[in-house]
Amino acid sequence: MKGVILAGGTGSRLDPITRVINKQLLPVYDKPMIYYPIEALVNAGITEILIVTSGSSAGDFLRLLGNGEALGVTHLSYAYQDGAGGIAEAINLARPFVGDERMVVILGDNIIGGNIVEAVRKFEAQEGGAKVLLTEVENPSAYGVAELAGDEIVRFVEKPEAPPSNLAVIGIYFYDAEAFRMIDGLDRSARGELEVTDLNNAYLARGEMTHDVLEGYWADCGESIEHYLQACNLVEQHGANRLS
Ligand code: G1P
Repeated sequence: MKGVILAGGTGSRLDPITRVINKQLLPVYDKPMIYYPIEALVNAGITEILIVTSGSSAGDFLRLLGNGEALGVTHLSYAYQDGAGGIAEAINLARPFVGDERMVVILGDNIIGGNIVEAVRKFEAQEGGAKVLLTEVENPSAYGVAELAGDEIVRFVEKPEAPPSNLAVIGIYFYDAEAFRMIDGLDRSARGELEVTDLNNAYLARGEMTHDVLEGYWADCGESIEHYLQACNLVEQHGANRLS
């Protein structure tokens, strides 16, 4: 299992603090944001990691993390995304790194209070396909949202004006290598991006998508300056990536 952390993007919702610094290099309490997704993966035994980044401060990740050894990473790779083509486009850059293996993709601005150990174990036990993690939120319109019929997800909707539920799809995704071929078949959305929500719907259509509800808090630092501040406070008060 390989780990892929998406650490590009313009961070426009946090402007101007992201104007000259990549969002994922900003501090969250006592550590740079990128440390948290790395720790989440390493805690789950995933120590071969690719960081996909972009923009003018991309070189700073190398200065900060080096070969990743200090954080328990055994193999750290970097990829560079030109422009802002969306999450699924960024995942596609991981194709040579992941090969035929499976991957856990984490958005570099997502922080969790608990861990993904059990979710990784369950995904490994799946024949293939994909898994997403859901959590209840107060502002579902800001995220990808799951529409359910009973316990079954029937559809994912990206940033819906009228959310079909308050269950957001968090930015930790589990995919087999079929994801790359499926991304090849995606069309760009109205905002010109290859959407992760379309990839997830493609898995759903094949009957190959499972889900779990996340335990512990989820913070999306990039959502707004208030969410960023809230994430800093959650980490200070409760820690992050707790193993029990
Ligand atoms: C992205 C995804 C969205 C997901 C969210 C989680 O949105 O498009 O489906 O719920 O990450 O952080 P973004 O935050 O990039 O707008």
